Amino acid sequence: MSSRAPEDKTRSHDWLTQGLAHVWLPYAQMKTAAAPLPVSRTDGCRITLADGRELIDGIASWWTACHGYNHPHIRQAVERQLAIMPHVMFGGLAHEPALSLARRLAALLPGDLDRVFFSESGSVSVEVAMKMAVQFWVNQSQPKRRKFIAFRNGYHGDTTGAMAVCDPEEGMHALFRGLLPEHVIVDLPRDEESTAAFDQALEHHAAGLAGIIVEPLVQGAGGMKFHAPAVLQRLRQAADRYDLLLIFDEIFTGFGRTGTMFACQAADVVPDIITLSKALSGGTLPLAGTVARRKVFDAFWSDDPKKALMHGPTYMGNPLACAAANASLDLFEQEPRLQQVKAISEQMAQELAACRSLPGVTDVRVQGAIGVVELERIDSCDHLTARFVEEGVFIRPFGNIVYLTPAFTISESEVGQLTGAIRKVLG
Ligand SMILES: Cc1ncc(COP(=O)(O)O)c(C=O)c1O
Repeated sequence: MSSRAPEDKTRSHDWLTQGLAHVWLPYAQMKTAAAPLPVSRTDGCRITLADGRELIDGIASWWTACHGYNHPHIRQAVERQLAIMPHVMFGGLAHEPALSLARRLAALLPGDLDRVFFSESGSVSVEVAMKMAVQFWVNQSQPKRRKFIAFRNGYHGDTTGAMAVCDPEEGMHALFRGLLPEHVIVDLPRDEESTAAFDQALEHHAAGLAGIIVEPLVQGAGGMKFHAPAVLQRLRQAADRYDLLLIFDEIFTGFGRTGTMFACQAADVVPDIITLSKALSGGTLPLAGTVARRKVFDAFWSDDPKKALMHGPTYMGNPLACAAANASLDLFEQEPRLQQVKAISEQMAQELAACRSLPGVTDVRVQGAIGVVELERIDSCDHLTARFVEEGVFIRPFGNIVYLTPAFTISESEVGQLTGAIRKVLG
């Protein structure tokens, strides 16, 4: 009998092996990638595997689960919302979870960043930011301003608009030539030479530019590369000088990850548009927001329907996700998250420092609750991940880095187990 017979599928309890034949996994060469670890539950900073093993999570599910998994306050809020209204469309209808969340985000963000456009993923929130920026100029009769300055090592998502402002290598611009629009991609202006090159690019392209897009303080998926707040101040000055919109992609850095609630606050810079996702819902449900300053919103405010922002994802402002996000904001208000980030930061800095003397290690750096050990190269990330699992931790290296982005609620001893595993495995 064929193993694909429908009755086989429904009767089988072997969801992993049978399901794997039908799923396409992220960022994976499906032929050679190690099989994913089957997870049966999550709790706090722990992942329980189907065979009963428990791992301490060093990544917090791509740095979303900032309060740990299954936090009772978020769970209860989502359960309450589920009983009332799991979803209703946002077109023509409004609901309390989304409108309260918009009001709370506006109050939390600096300056007049006070108009929130909801979507369901980071990449889409970047698409929305880019559309807002281009149409901001179109609405003011400057339709030629359509390009962005973006930065090497940057990462803004996997949809085509966002990909086009990623690092050209990581975004695989060559592979998708013809599909991706061309933008101006330069080094971050972090020293004299790169600042001169940045200024030159601005001078040369200014007439066709809509804005500048950057991940403030930490370029995450492009290699966990840090830069000083002064770089962001330089970008603000450049944006003001050439009348460009400054977009901060805080999908990774937002909600405490770098040490302040938002990375822009460390530089005392207010961007014109900010994108938020990941920890926005406390890692519970997919949600993103693109938040615009008043002057951006005002450029769309008109009697002319053509000046409206034509975007509207089906699950925009999903009530369950917004309920989770409101509960997550409660936790930031009620619990000492930023102090926890500071303590994690100090502990990681102290305990990862010993990695500097390990073979192949080229750099160790910590910013907020982000700890990075950079190596000359990693021959097999799958092999390293498997070694970490043997040590009872989930750490997933990429490129040439091993990194930690744990939940802010992680205990001192759990951080110790993560850093200890890194020292042991790399040693
Ligand atoms: C800075 C940044 N922007 C955008 C994205 C894309 O978000 P998503 O994967 O939710 O589309 C990511 C994801 O890692 C990110 O780190």
